[in-house]
Amino acid sequence: MSSLPPLSAALRAPTILVFDSGLGGLSVFRELTRVRPDAHFIYAADDAGFPYGPRDEQDLIGRVTAVMDALIARLAPDAVVIACNTASTLVLPVLRARYAIPFVGTVPAIKPACEGSLTKQVSVLATPGTVKRDYTQALIRDFAGNCHVTLVGATRLAPLSEAAMAGAPVADEDFAAEIAPAFVREGRDRTDTVVLACTHYPLVLDRLEKVAPWPVRWVDPAAAIARRLSSLIGPVAFAASPMPLRLFSTGRPLDAALVERIVGRRSRRGELVPLDVVAM
Ligand code: DGL
Repeated sequence: MSSLPPLSAALRAPTILVFDSGLGGLSVFRELTRVRPDAHFIYAADDAGFPYGPRDEQDLIGRVTAVMDALIARLAPDAVVIACNTASTLVLPVLRARYAIPFVGTVPAIKPACEGSLTKQVSVLATPGTVKRDYTQALIRDFAGNCHVTLVGATRLAPLSEAAMAGAPVADEDFAAEIAPAFVREGRDRTDTVVLACTHYPLVLDRLEKVAPWPVRWVDPAAAIARRLSSLIGPVAFAASPMPLRLFSTGRPLDAALVERIVGRRSRRGELVPLDVVAM
């Protein structure tokens, strides 16, 4: 006869660690916290290591592994969401081999983008690291079908997004120059779908839409990642009061007011969710 898990374990809210190089992963974090208000969420930004985009692959594997070792030892999460394409497309196999807990990654949403494209011209807007990965090439090989996929490794878009979110003035021309190569016209067809393959970009989507040469469908994977995590941790449990959202960073403490603006701080019942900010 199989035995049931102990009651305390069954009732305990799962602790989910959500990780990115900076603020970008908050685009995934806000969706996760909305879908699973019963879980205990911790957001960790490796801001001392930001940006990941230009880093050499061996250096990035070493950096993410070292930060993850420290976070997992301290926080003992039940699952980890790597809310960063630049890290996920490289480091996921290393992390899965190193720890027994499940890891959910964030990788370019090439399959849904290509399935939904009418002109069969799709662009992947990412960091320079993500566009170079074998993993990204494999996604195109396996899922692009008859779509033509243009890879755009935007060198400044993640740092510009961080600056804009922190309230610094970023000119429309700067955003326009970063996204321009994603807008391709070939004969009568032009790009109709752009994959947001860096978690920073959905957070400045209003700016990107404003400077886009023509309207496109922007594909953000956050909702799919939230569904994946949710199926992994099982059905929603009753939560007596909203769990605090804990925010970790490796450099400067995260700006709680900014996180609150991005993520929202109301539980489903309208209560304020406490924010707890920690610098490592
Ligand atoms: N937010 C990260 C991503 O999804 C990368 C930003 C960076 O550190 O360059 O790729």
